[in-house]
Amino acid sequence: MDVKTKQPLLSDHVDMRPVAVDADEAISDRNAIVQLDPDHPGFRDREYRKRRNQIAQLAMNFQPGDQIPDAPYTAEEHHVWRTIWAALGPAHQQHACAEYLASLRRLSFDPDRIPQLREVNKKVQAISGFRLEPVAGLVQPRVFLENLANGVFLCTQYIRHHSTPLYTPEPDVVHEIVGHGVTLASERLAELNRLFGEAVKRTRAQDALDRLSRVYWFTIEFGALREGESVKAYGTGLLSSAGEMKEMGDAELRALDLEAASRQHYDPTHFQPVLFCADSFEQMYETLREYLVSGNG
Ligand SMILES: [Fe+2]
Repeated sequence: MDVKTKQPLLSDHVDMRPVAVDADEAISDRNAIVQLDPDHPGFRDREYRKRRNQIAQLAMNFQPGDQIPDAPYTAEEHHVWRTIWAALGPAHQQHACAEYLASLRRLSFDPDRIPQLREVNKKVQAISGFRLEPVAGLVQPRVFLENLANGVFLCTQYIRHHSTPLYTPEPDVVHEIVGHGVTLASERLAELNRLFGEAVKRTRAQDALDRLSRVYWFTIEFGALREGESVKAYGTGLLSSAGEMKEMGDAELRALDLEAASRQHYDPTHFQPVLFCADSFEQMYETLREYLVSGNG
C-alpha cells in the first residue's frame, strides 16, 4: 500500500462507515459480522477478521448501563498503538491546541498499551459526564449525533490492521480515543458535542441534518484555530493522525464561518484541502456555541 498517498483515510462518524454490520447476516453467521472491503489492509488476514468479528459481537451484546467489556487485543495490536503513539507524540507537541494538550495530560495514556474504553470512560465521565459506548460498525449520522445530546459517544473498539500502523480506511479505536476521548475530557469541547446532539434533535428535514453534519465535520472533526502566530488543531480527525497534522500546513485556511461550513462539501477519503480556522479557542467556542443554541440547523 502506498502510505504516502493513501495515508489517513478517515471516514467520519457523520458518514456511513465502510464497515457494515448486517443484522440478518449476524444472525445467520455469527462469525462473519464485519464486512471488510477487498482492498482493506486486513482483508486477507483471517485472524484479524476473526478478532474484528469478536469485537463487533461484544458491541452487539452490549446494553447501555453495562460495564464495557474489554477488547481482546493482541501483543501485535498493542505494538500498533506504540508505533502510532511514537508518531503522534511530536506531532501533538507541534500542532495540537493547548486545550487538547491539557486534556491529554489528564488522561495519561500508557504509550505501550491500547487503553480499554472502560478505563477511558472512568476519567472522561468524571470530567465532563460523557461516556463512550461501543458500536459494532455502521452508525447512521442521526443516531450518532443525537446520542451526543445524552452525553453518549458511540465508538468502535477495534484497532487498524498491523500492516499499516499509520493508515486506516475507517475510524478505529485510536481515532475514537486519541481524538474524541481526549476532547471529551475538555469540559468546553464536551459541551459543544452535547449541543450538537441537541441541535440535531431539533431538526426534522434531511437538509438541516446534513448542514449540521458538515459543521460537525469542519469543527469537531477537522477544526483549526490560532494560538498567537501558530495554527493549531482542535479537530479529532487531525489530532488522531500524524499525517493529517503534517498536511495541515498545506491546507487552505478559511476564517471560521459556520454558514459557509454548513454548505461546504468534503471528501473523507483524502487529506482535507480546506480547513476553517478560528481566531482563538475562545472565538471558536463562542461562535460554535451561539450557532448551536440559536436554532441553526
Ligand atoms: Fe470522528
